[in-house]
Formats: sequence, structure tokens, C-alpha cells
Amino acid sequence: MVGVILILLGLLIGGFLFVLMTDGRYFGKQLMYWVYDRIGPAAFGSRSEASDWQGLFAALKLQGDEQVLDVGTAVGDLPLTLTAQPNFQGHATGIDWSPRMMETAYLEAQKRGLTARIDFRVVDVRQPLPFNDNTFDVIFCFGLIETLPNPQALLQEFSRIAQPNGMLVLSLYKGWSSWSAALDLKWYQSHLAQLGRPAPEIQTLPFRNSQAVVVARFGKV
Ligand SMILES: C[S@@+](CC[C@H](N)C(=O)[O-])C[C@H]1O[C@@H](n2cnc3c(N)ncnc32)[C@H](O)[C@@H]1O
Repeated sequence: MVGVILILLGLLIGGFLFVLMTDGRYFGKQLMYWVYDRIGPAAFGSRSEASDWQGLFAALKLQGDEQVLDVGTAVGDLPLTLTAQPNFQGHATGIDWSPRMMETAYLEAQKRGLTARIDFRVVDVRQPLPFNDNTFDVIFCFGLIETLPNPQALLQEFSRIAQPNGMLVLSLYKGWSSWSAALDLKWYQSHLAQLGRPAPEIQTLPFRNSQAVVVARFGKV
């Protein structure tokens, strides 16, 4: 009896870790949504990566007046960090499909007095994005595009809503965590060149232990 319970417990913990490690990409939309919405506020709200974001902003040489979008923002750590920087006078929007995480993010923006320069919206990126063409100077997307059944459709949406000289900053899994991520640098290079506009200039930058970033600058070539 104890053995059976231990095996079931092991399967449960193993399954949970697998969902987390693969960002839910093999588990179907409903389960993935449920896991993120229920566990996300506690999981993502328990830590801030502010210093990593600041290092990335510096490496990207942001001017400080950009319209910025963070896609799959979780509890909004990236836009909250960016809009709190004294030299940033632009505007940031964070989107995520989790209403609970968007509420957590909004309350944090209120607490920090940042609501004038930050928006959080509940958006499912498997649908067309609710933004006009040519809206954003910089679009960040980390740990999300890899999980989609049709990642090219989201890339196409990014291209539509990015300014003509806009920049996409996208996660590129590396090391052990890349084993299940379908999108490698070659995928980005070939699909960023098929967006119906001049191919962007592409570079990679170091970021997290598990992720580098692909930076695609339109209008630079
Ligand atoms: C792995 S987390 C990454 C969070 C954050 N970008 C980071 O790098 O720390 C993926 C995020 O994407 C969100 N997400 C997943 N599928 C989504 C969808 N279809 N539409 C909008 N958000 C989604 C999840 O709720 C979660 O917050």
C-alpha cells in the first residue's frame, strides 16, 4: 500500500515538474492555462529578476522613450522594472492569458505608483493580438512562443504591430532546457526572413542560464 502511494506521489511530482520544465507545451491548452493561472501568481510573484532585466535593457541600448510590449509577462516583472527606471519615460504594456497574474501585476503597479506608464491586459496570444499595426518599438517575449502550436502566426503578429524600425527580443533556450524547445536560432533566422518585410538584422545576447535572447531589429539592413 505504502509502495503504491509512493509511486503515485512520484508520478504526480514528476508530472508537475515536467509541465513546469516544458512550459506546459505538451499538455494542451486547457491544462496549461489552468496551471499558469492557479500557480503563476505565487510562482512568479515570489521573486524578481530586476537586475537581469536591467542588464538586458542596457545591452539593448533602449533610448528611454519607447512603446514596449511584454508578451507572456506573468506578474509583470519586466514592465514593472522598466517603467521604474528613472531614465525610462516611455510606456509599457504587459499581456498574459492569466487573469490572476494580470491582477497581481496591476496591484503591484498601483503600489509602486506606475499605473500612468504601464498597462496590463488579459490576452490569449493564440488569437490575433488586440493592437493596431505599427504600435510598438520593442516587443519582448520569453518562454511563450516555443509553447505554441503555430509560433509563426505569433511572429507574424509581432511583425504587424511592431514599428517599421521596431525590435523583437525573443527567448532562445539553451543547454539542458533546450531539449524540448522546438525553436532554435535557425528557426528564428528562417522565419524572421519570411514576414513579408525586409529581413531584420539578427543578433543573440546572453541572458539567463537557460535562455539567451534573439534580437531582431527591423529597418537596420
Ligand atoms: C514560462 S512563463 C514566462 C514568464 C516571463 N515571460 C518570464 O520569462 O519570466 C510563460 C508565460 O506565458 C503565459 N502564456 C502561456 N500561454 C499563453 C497564451 N496563449 N496567451 C497569453 N499568455 C500565455 C503564461 O501564463 C506565463 O505567464
